[in-house]
Amino acid sequence: MCRRIPSLILSLLAFTSIANSQSNKPLKWVGCNPPSPYPNVQCAKHPVSYDWLSGLSQYTAMSVMRVKSRAEKPKGTIFLPSGPKRSGIRLLKQYLGDNSSAAMELLDEYHITGLDVRGISEHSPIKCNATRWNRRVPSMVKNVTQFNRMWRHWRKIAEECREMTGELLFDHMDTFTIGQDVENVRYNDWELPSKNRKMHMIGLSWGAQIGLAYVEKISAYMGNIVLDGIIDHTQGPISTIMAESTAFETTLKHFFAWCEVESSCALHNQPDLEHFFTQLAAQAEIEPIRAPRCKQNDGESSCRPNVSLEEMMLSVQRYLAPGPPGWPLLAESLWEASRGDASAFSAHWFTGESDPTATWASLITGCQDWIPARDFFELSGTQRTMRILSPLTRGYTQSFLYYARCISWPRKQKKVQNGQRPLLQEGKSIKPLLLVTSALDPITSAQGAVSLRAQIPQAVLVFTNKAGHRSYGAPGDLTYIANSVLRTGGFPQDGSVYQT
Ligand SMILES: *[C@@H]1O[C@H](CO)[C@@H](O)[C@H](O)[C@H]1NC(C)=O
Ligand SMILES: *[C@@H]1O[C@H](CO)[C@@H](O)[C@H](O)[C@H]1NC(C)=O
Ligand SMILES: *[C@@H]1O[C@H](CO)[C@@H](O)[C@H](O)[C@H]1NC(C)=O
Ligand SMILES: *[C@@H]1O[C@H](CO)[C@@H](O)[C@H](O)[C@H]1NC(C)=O
Repeated sequence: MCRRIPSLILSLLAFTSIANSQSNKPLKWVGCNPPSPYPNVQCAKHPVSYDWLSGLSQYTAMSVMRVKSRAEKPKGTIFLPSGPKRSGIRLLKQYLGDNSSAAMELLDEYHITGLDVRGISEHSPIKCNATRWNRRVPSMVKNVTQFNRMWRHWRKIAEECREMTGELLFDHMDTFTIGQDVENVRYNDWELPSKNRKMHMIGLSWGAQIGLAYVEKISAYMGNIVLDGIIDHTQGPISTIMAESTAFETTLKHFFAWCEVESSCALHNQPDLEHFFTQLAAQAEIEPIRAPRCKQNDGESSCRPNVSLEEMMLSVQRYLAPGPPGWPLLAESLWEASRGDASAFSAHWFTGESDPTATWASLITGCQDWIPARDFFELSGTQRTMRILSPLTRGYTQSFLYYARCISWPRKQKKVQNGQRPLLQEGKSIKPLLLVTSALDPITSAQGAVSLRAQIPQAVLVFTNKAGHRSYGAPGDLTYIANSVLRTGGFPQDGSVYQT
């Protein structure tokens, strides 16, 4: 009994601090700037507290765009918390521009709202020193000297970003905080009667992580939620890296097998694709491969003049993401790289104070969400292990980058704010939601979805029997089923496998 009281008081306090905050302003919908070419599209700039827990009355802002429902009395709003380059607004625009988009069918009953959260919104940009970001410092180190160099490099980058961005935003970019921002938007969608103000969501990739951050804190307002491309934030750092690396390595092998069968694949005539790939990696390790088609003054398309091993591996992982429909391009790009032109794999070349690719924002969030190695010995031990377990891709993954680059990250508290940890509330109190994974996802391993399914007994997990990062949106059974969950809240059989 006695132990319960403090937590009750705490949760009441947390509630009042949100409820009283000045950022409880109704969303003010206006025409978008620049105006949207599509009808029924509106935008809003919405204030959110830098730090929900402290009750600070200082605010940053996020951007919101919605397409109004075709229904006279919409059932609610479906939120897209993220999308390409982390922008939910980009995802919404992509859906709008595609007249066969299955998501747009939901407009029969719902508004659909894309979110550009803090750090992604043009109203709260992350700013960093582009010159220093363009310096190349490997994240996999061979000795203490290289480790120290990496340590100093990312420390300096972080200090400069913090200075240029402002410390309040820089220090509060974790996904948990962003989940609270999304709740604030839901609450303030005051045009809808309160019974229709539930959290309906399509959360893809990082959007799925935002969705999980939401439901683990707030279960009461959950509506119909579909999460696809799921990463498990409840496992330790080594498990996080292992899951992603295994998924990347295995998908690459499936790509090779696809290429052996597919006569249109640019590498079809290579006698041994694993050997071909290993040779190419060895070449990039000795000296970066030239990228003659890259310009360094080409705005959002600017890219580096050459490609290191690390840059190539991370790029190959992204090229695997669309699954077989995107693999012809990967094959061609690998072929060109072996002929001395790796332009397709070249990393972005930063030119301004802000970053159109959201690379900076994702590292800042990554360093607040994921626990890094403690020291050189832990890092090199992990490297050595990954090199053996994933011999083709050597352990290069996005989560490895956070694990290495965030070691020297300046932190206000001594710990990683939102590092991996158990769910905040017992999984059984989380209402039903749909988890989706493809059988073979090169970025967010199916392992994450299965692990979360085990922790949230009411969650329903379904698979698509294919390779690729995310399944929602492609025409087929899965998208149809996900839409019917969003429409009706009626779930498919747990464990169902869809072929399309
Ligand atoms: C969808 O767009 C395509 C290409 O822009 C066009 O050919 C087609 O007629 C459009 N379909 C509908 C139903 O508007
Ligand atoms: C940006 O970084 C470069 C070195 O990479 C340094 O010379 C320059 O002073 C930095 N600029 C600012 C504004 O900190
Ligand atoms: C560390 O490794 C780099 C790259 O292999 C090498 O150039 C350098 O000499 C090494 N330094 C020490 C102290 O071993
Ligand atoms: C690769 O590009 C960098 C600029 O990012 C340049 O300094 C370096 O000389 C280039 N290396 C090769 C091998 O072309």
